[in-house]
Amino acid sequence: MDGKKRIVFVCLGNICRSPMAESVFTYIAAARGELGRYVIASAGTSGEEAGNPVHRGTVSKLTSCGIPVVPHRAVQLTGDDCRRFDYVVCMERANVRAVHHIFGGRSHGAAVCRLLDFTDNPRDIADPWFTGDFDTTYRDVWEGCTAMAEKLSSVNV
Ligand code: 4NP
Repeated sequence: MDGKKRIVFVCLGNICRSPMAESVFTYIAAARGELGRYVIASAGTSGEEAGNPVHRGTVSKLTSCGIPVVPHRAVQLTGDDCRRFDYVVCMERANVRAVHHIFGGRSHGAAVCRLLDFTDNPRDIADPWFTGDFDTTYRDVWEGCTAMAEKLSSVNV
């Protein structure tokens, strides 16, 4: 092992929330001079959007906030990902349940949690695919990624 913390952000479709979190966490880690400590990825629990680009609502919000959008095409989380990642960081409780289903009860030490579990106000992040509200999603993702970067920088895996 190279000592890097391996993170996969997970939502349902992997076109709105998890690529937003992947881009925001990459930006924050870079700003902290800690990019080299992480492998950062994202995936969806559904294969519905596999191969599709990041949703234009996510691209537009990130661009307006000056956050570079990490190049990405949607992929579905697989059972093997429980061995490939240390942290499986979901957007909402339904994702956590779906991840456990995909992992088939094994986790190989991968921690499965929600992004906002890293904050003092643990909660789900609403799906802008349904709400159309990318501003609220971005605020929640920023809050979660900031808290997560702070917590993980003090953890030696
Ligand atoms: P995401 O949003 O989980 O934040 O990427 C969704 C995108 C697509 C679908 C559902 C949620 N879909 O059903 O295609």
